[in-house]
Amino acid sequence: MQKNSVLIIGLTLLVWGSSIAATRSMASEDSRQMVKLPKMMQQHMLANMRDHLVALNEIFGELANGNADKAGEIAEKRLGMSSMSLHGAAHLGKFMPAEMRAIGTNMHRTASQFVIIAKDAELDTSKTSQRKVFKALQDITANCNACHQGYRIQ
Ligand code: HEC
Repeated sequence: MQKNSVLIIGLTLLVWGSSIAATRSMASEDSRQMVKLPKMMQQHMLANMRDHLVALNEIFGELANGNADKAGEIAEKRLGMSSMSLHGAAHLGKFMPAEMRAIGTNMHRTASQFVIIAKDAELDTSKTSQRKVFKALQDITANCNACHQGYRIQ
């Protein structure tokens, strides 16, 4: 009898504890800052985002085929500094908190840096040069993650 009540108290504490843990982890997901955009800009930004991922996929494809120069071209056009007007970055940027905008700009900058490293890798096929390509890609995706961890728009 006594054993049973100890067991029930134990189980109750366990359920209570894990529900607190669940609430905490939900709260941490929701800790992303909400950035309110006009509906059309929101759609536009999400379309840009989907294209960012398509571009990364194409970059990997070109690298796998040994075409580092083509990977660089895609990066510059679709993610790099040259893509900023295409994506209406100046217009979108006005709606972003300064830190978010800085991450966005840094993503464009690192994508343009990737182009230079990819060009080098086209000529120099050493292991060191290939590693630099991976590092340069990671420098881009670090910005994708930094922004996604910090902000949401819907
Ligand atoms: C400056 C901030 C920022 C940067 C940089 C950024 N994103 Fe996003 N991305 C967002 C936000 C905000 C959302 C919407 C998240 C939400 O509201 O839940 C999003 C959504 C997405 C989506 C989902 C699109 C949809 O239709 O729902 C994809 C895919 C995506 N991003 C890919 C990327 C990739 C790949 C990169 C890097 C090459 C990147 N993003 C860089 C802010 C950013």
